[in-house]
Amino acid sequence: MKTITFRNGDPMPLFGLGTYQSKANELHDAIISALKDGYRLIDCAAYYKNEEIIGAALQETFTSGLVKREELFITSKLWNNNHAPEHVEEALRKTLHDLRLDYLDLYLIHWPIALKHDIEYPRQASDLLSLEECPLTETWKAMEQMQAKGLCRHIGVSNFSIPKLKELIAVAKNKPEMNQVEMHPYLQQNELFRFCQSEGIYLTAYSPLGRNLPIKNKPGLTNEPIIIDLAKKYNCTPAQIIIAWGVQRGIVIIPKSVHPERIKENIKSLDINISPEDMTKIATLDSHTRMTDGSAWIFPDGPYTMKNIWDEK
Ligand SMILES: NC(=O)c1ccc[n+]([C@@H]2O[C@H](COP(=O)([O-])OP(=O)(O)OC[C@H]3O[C@@H](n4cnc5c(N)ncnc54)[C@H](OP(=O)(O)O)[C@@H]3O)[C@@H](O)[C@H]2O)c1
Repeated sequence: MKTITFRNGDPMPLFGLGTYQSKANELHDAIISALKDGYRLIDCAAYYKNEEIIGAALQETFTSGLVKREELFITSKLWNNNHAPEHVEEALRKTLHDLRLDYLDLYLIHWPIALKHDIEYPRQASDLLSLEECPLTETWKAMEQMQAKGLCRHIGVSNFSIPKLKELIAVAKNKPEMNQVEMHPYLQQNELFRFCQSEGIYLTAYSPLGRNLPIKNKPGLTNEPIIIDLAKKYNCTPAQIIIAWGVQRGIVIIPKSVHPERIKENIKSLDINISPEDMTKIATLDSHTRMTDGSAWIFPDGPYTMKNIWDEK
């Protein structure tokens, strides 16, 4: 498995399994299939409400001897209603309990968005807290404490813009080591990528296949003529081209699937070597188009806007 290397020398697989919206009855078998096929990174989140199922599947594979805990890299995320420093440890311990683990390899702040503690998903502006009321820098300090306690080996963020990363870097004892963001050929995030590289922050691409759905006026990545032509050329599937492209950029790629044949297909992308000319062809698909645009957090008179979530013009 190709890896990236964190500042302390720990490796992280460049490729893993996403678990958002994986249904309970399918997820257990998906995890077992993935581990049998050589996956070693599983991307989880408290918000996905399926960490107990993942925990049971992991336990089964430890007992059967399929894999050892130390061979795996498990990521999870702090949900938006637990940003207040006094809630971070409880949230992390609940995730560890559900996953049946003693530590996470990576713990991320899921969104730069704060919700009131008793609200899981906002329905009105008053469900949200502004970043002045619940500063990200305070949440970050609590994340650092979790790392110091050994509950997670590495800490990072998700859906963070350059200005928000800078804000954390300014106060951090340990800078974020990872920013997990939406990334695929329609949304290549080159400026963010350059900034993160200059700060020693790695990127993980979520929705790396663009969810295999059409976006706005586009046919969807697996239906893009450029991708289809390259799939023919490299004798592989469109999804494999998209994954290979991401991995070759040095980005951690975590496609979600619950189908054994796709789980296998996706990891086999690591065997494909796309030429520099073909990498450039794929780069022409960039249109800065998001599937997840943050609109779920935006209400009239609420603290969040598209502009202040992404810090883009
Ligand atoms: N940090 C965040 O805010 C955030 C947000 C979104 C996602 N994520 C993480 O990133 C992971 C991946 O993102 P995602 O689930 O949004 O989207 P994705 O991985 O781009 O796409 C998943 C969709 O593609 C299908 N698929 C998988 N492999 C395929 C293949 N080889 N050919 C055709 N279709 C294929 C899956 O269907 P089947 O399952 O039916 O095969 C599923 O419908 C998530 O699961 C989650 O772990 C994080």
